[in-house]
Amino acid sequence: MTSTPLSHLLRGARGDSPRLLYGGDYNPEQWPREVWEEDVRLMREAGVTTVSVAIFSWARLQPAEDTWDFGWLDEVMDLLHAGGIGVDLATATASPPPWLTLAHPEILPVTAAGETLWPGARQHWRPTSPVFREHALRLVRELATRYADHPALVAWHISNELGCHNLYDHSDDAARAFRDWLRARYGTLDALNHAWGTAFWSQRYSDWEQILPPRLAASFSNPTQQLDFKRFSSDALKEYLRAERDVLRELTPDVPVTTNFMLTPGIKGLDYADWAAEVDFVSNDHYVHPGPQARDELSFSANLTSGIALGRPWFLMEHSTGAVQWKPVNVPKRPGELARDSLLHVAHGADAVCFFQWRQSAAGAEKYHSAMVPHAGPDSEVFRAVTALGATLRTLAPVAGTEREPAPVGILFDWDSWWASEQDAHPTELLDYRQEALDWYSALLALGIRADVVTTRPGTDLGRYRLLVAPVLHVVPERLAKELTRYAENGGHLVTTYFSGLVDENDHVWLGGYPGALRELLGIRIEEFAPLPADATVELDDATTGTLWTDRVTVTDPETEVLTRYRTGDQAGRAAVTRRTTGSGSAAYVSTRLGADGLTALLPRLLGPAGITSDLPEAARGRVEQTVRRGPDARFVFLVNRGDESVPLGEPDGEVLLGTAGDDGALVLEPRGVAVLRQPAD
Ligand code: GLA
Ligand code: GLA
Repeated sequence: MTSTPLSHLLRGARGDSPRLLYGGDYNPEQWPREVWEEDVRLMREAGVTTVSVAIFSWARLQPAEDTWDFGWLDEVMDLLHAGGIGVDLATATASPPPWLTLAHPEILPVTAAGETLWPGARQHWRPTSPVFREHALRLVRELATRYADHPALVAWHISNELGCHNLYDHSDDAARAFRDWLRARYGTLDALNHAWGTAFWSQRYSDWEQILPPRLAASFSNPTQQLDFKRFSSDALKEYLRAERDVLRELTPDVPVTTNFMLTPGIKGLDYADWAAEVDFVSNDHYVHPGPQARDELSFSANLTSGIALGRPWFLMEHSTGAVQWKPVNVPKRPGELARDSLLHVAHGADAVCFFQWRQSAAGAEKYHSAMVPHAGPDSEVFRAVTALGATLRTLAPVAGTEREPAPVGILFDWDSWWASEQDAHPTELLDYRQEALDWYSALLALGIRADVVTTRPGTDLGRYRLLVAPVLHVVPERLAKELTRYAENGGHLVTTYFSGLVDENDHVWLGGYPGALRELLGIRIEEFAPLPADATVELDDATTGTLWTDRVTVTDPETEVLTRYRTGDQAGRAAVTRRTTGSGSAAYVSTRLGADGLTALLPRLLGPAGITSDLPEAARGRVEQTVRRGPDARFVFLVNRGDESVPLGEPDGEVLLGTAGDDGALVLEPRGVAVLRQPAD
């Protein structure tokens, strides 16, 4: 295993052999002292190795500006250490205390409409407030100084889910910081005016002071202003993360620093491909989004987390043992799902499995959120499942520290394209970038083909993928167009979709016909988009059905082959899916939304030329998800049941590290079950 800050953590304080870490958020301040002893005893029973402490403890640690109260935390740290449990210690800055907001209401965020977000919940602070930062960094300094040498301390947990509630702040602080960010990006007002296209609607700026965040406006705000504000808002929190991190690195240079990312449904504002280089190891929080693609989505998010971590192991900082409390209806997990969901993260590179939270709160807004120790107490199905999972993770210790073995297919996920493609004043407001990417992923799972979800984070080698799917790659700067052209010429097989190649990094349309920057590579030309109304469908001649979008495609290159045509609708008879051969590779275009089923039908025709077939036994394809983690001496093949029926897998191809073999030695995957095989590395 390569030596990384996380690999040291996996070895524990005594430098033991690596293991997978296990635990959750621990909020002892919500409980009387006598519960703490029981907590540690139960943690040991469950196999917990690591807990995150003090995430929301600011008001308790600093009850007034010049009063500190660390005694209780000293005791918690000592108790945990005595129990052999490591602490991922939070910097406690996530939720400012009431005394601070009373003294300094100017730290409170402001919405686009000018409303103040008042205290009473959490994360009520402006990312760019110098006053907030001064107070927060003072707390970080106090904590780091006090616990620098505490033997329980294994990692720092900066703040909590930065930007979960306070990402878009439109305050005067934000306006000032936005102007500074724009000055650094554009240098001159002329460059900004050009980039923002301010010749439109009399928006030309003659002084930097005139520039504002996109506050509530009479009509559509300038699209490049909107896009830049999204970039700025992600950067502002990244900059805040760096400020806390730098204090920690100064005071405790040997303690790794992380913060919990939110690669999970519903969160799109933080460009984690850009943030990942700022932390010592990547951590993620994931919450299942119920529905037919729930498990595929979990896999997609975990896979993307691995992509952001460049295939290295990462830390699952939060998920849930059962229901959450923040959806309109909160359904519990079914038997087996707690373990299956956890192990699916491990299959995608998680070396730690943690939950929100250890003990279910009796009071507060999260009292109906599941936990490792539920309201019912340890005599409960949930706690028994938690304890069983702890044992399973111990069995899987040999997996710790191993990296992802690249898959044959890459799915390119790009924040700029996500942000820009879903802005207002577009051909349709129904476009869902993440859903399109997820549908391709689901289709590949249905065919039993392994795929890596990757980003353009430096260090990512797109060229290694035989097939690269770039769904709705909307923002294509010249450099990216060239890279993709080279990719295809050198033998890669690129696939892209509707609304791709359209604009440059300033959200200016590439002229001369769509798909703009990718027109020549794809060998097609489109003069006009033809999106479909919400419930309209079109039939294609391969019996698939399109929704959302169609294009009037004209084939412009002799090397472009029409794979599928529209059979119904206004484009009937025209090309729906095309592929152009170029160099030793190809570039394909899918002009409508086929959904996971339609893509499952289409994909074999795209995979064929790339020479990609499933490496799963026929009977397991679609029913089982397979991932591979690789270490210096062994490969670990994870086989995850995608459904509720058991799947016979035949003679196991390797040593069964986890799983059930029948009397005849054949491996059977239980409903929602997971098997792990160890094979020698070749
Ligand atoms: C987030 C937060 C936690 C908790 C959970 C509940 O992940 O980080 O503090 O609120 O959501 O699901
Ligand atoms: C109105 C306005 C124009 C333009 C069109 C677009 O007519 O006067 O400036 O915005 O709407 O439909």
